[in-house]
Parts: sequence; C-alpha cells; structure tokens
Amino acid sequence: MSGHEFTSYFPDSGSVDLEDQSTSIDETTYAELRELASRYPQPRSALLPMLHLVQSVDGRISPKGIEACAEVLGITTAQVSGVATFYTMYKRRPAGQHHVGVCTTALCAVMGGDVLLETASKHLGIGVDETTPDGKISLERIECNAACDFAPVMMVNWEFMDDMTPEKAIVLLDDLRAGQEVHSTRGATLTSWREAERVLAGFPDGRADEGPSAGAQSLLGLRIAESNGWSAPSDTSTSKPKAMSSATTKAPNEPAAQAQEAAAGVEETPEAKVPPKQRRKATKPGEETAK
Ligand code: FES
Repeated sequence: MSGHEFTSYFPDSGSVDLEDQSTSIDETTYAELRELASRYPQPRSALLPMLHLVQSVDGRISPKGIEACAEVLGITTAQVSGVATFYTMYKRRPAGQHHVGVCTTALCAVMGGDVLLETASKHLGIGVDETTPDGKISLERIECNAACDFAPVMMVNWEFMDDMTPEKAIVLLDDLRAGQEVHSTRGATLTSWREAERVLAGFPDGRADEGPSAGAQSLLGLRIAESNGWSAPSDTSTSKPKAMSSATTKAPNEPAAQAQEAAAGVEETPEAKVPPKQRRKATKPGEETAK
C-alpha cells in the first residue's frame, strides 16, 4: 500500500551485515570464547565479553562471530544478534584501525563538542558512523563519557582525550593516521581499536597501570575540602551537610578520619587496588549501555 512503507533513519544500524561473510575466527578464537564462557556461573553471562572478542578478531560483529557465540553458549543466533544490535559498542560494519568518538552531550556541547565533531568529520572527509577509505579511522558521535570535568572530550579506542579543541583534534587525527605514538590524556599509550576490544573481552594486555588515572579536575573537590579542613560526616544516615559546619571542621572523629584518609589516599582503598585501567573500563560511559 503506497504511503505506508517504513523508512528507517538508520538504514545500516539495525542488523549485522550478512553480505560480508569474511572472518578470521578460528579454533583459537573458539577456545578463547569457551574460556570466557567458563568464567561465569551462567555461561551466557559471557556474551558481552565474547562479542568484544569477536570484534577484536573480525573488526566488527561478523555473521561467523554470531554463529560462534551461539554455538559456544547453546543459544540461538537470533538471541546473539539481538544483543549485538542493541548496544552501540558493537559495530555492524568494520570500524577503523582507530575508533574516534566525540562527545556531544550537554556539557561537552556547551564546551564545543559539536564543533569538534564537525571539525573531525570535515578533516577526515567522513560522516558519523563512517570509516575513512584507508580504514584508518572511524568516527562516532558518543554520549556522555562521565568525563564532563574535562569537557569537551574525545575518545580514541575508548581511551580519554580530555580538554580538546578543534586544533588539538586535527593534530590527534593526523598523528593517528600517520601511525605516530599517541598517549591518552588519562590512560595508556594508544594501541588499536582491535587490541582495545581484546582487553574489553577480558584478556588484559598488561598495561593497566600505564599513564595517569585521576586528573586534577576530578580531585579538585577533595583538594578544596582538604584545604578547608572539611571531613566526611560520621553519621551517614543524614544528608544534612554537617561536614561543612563549624562543628565538623574540628579534628575529625575516627570514622570520619578513616573516610577522609580513604578519599585522600585513592591508591589505598580496596577499590583503588584494582588497576586504574580496569577501573576505567568498568565505569566507562556507554559501555554495555544502550543508547
Ligand atoms: S557531557 Fe561529555 S563527558 Fe559528560
């Protein structure tokens, strides 16, 4: 019936590209997929990391990758592709050697995120969700990275590039294309998107402690509290800002002192004993989050 056809505004986003059957998945990949599945009490809980492994091998969610995940987990390919097409971190078309994201959510937008995206798009000659013809760089518009204190933020292979400007973006893109060594502003030396995907799958590359973790902006509140002698309230059942009152600017009692110590000594908390990179990965915005 004319006039009732459904037109998608995202014609390439809905499904895995079944026309491209190329794959590098082999017995080693199968063994690693099985290993991932064995890490969970319920094997299908491993599907998200397994899909990251598929991306590290095939550079996208390939039809063979979907089949392999389904086979290892004993579920249907429809169930696997239903998950793979739900999350934006899973790519249905080949990503570039480096995958570049530009945050244009509120705070980054206010600080120039849209201009950054436009600059990157023009400089690369590609649109959002496209890859340069040489396969070097793919571009994505991303949602808040929970790095608003460093806005506007770009990501390369899911690593932070903070406090960006259009000029810095052009240098970054040129360096990536030229194969120059590039360091994340709060992380390790950048490798490739596929290598990053392998880490996300759960196969560490041994570089979790490379580079800085918390930046000065993130620690500013702590520094202000320290310089004012503020401490955490001892009674956490109340939300009243007692810690800001004169009564709590005296020498802190023991629980408050412990809380302050924990806040000040980031590396001393149990959570902080997790390597910085793993902490970043675990809380990285957009990860396993539907957009
Ligand atoms: S709005 Fe861009 S990191 Fe939060």
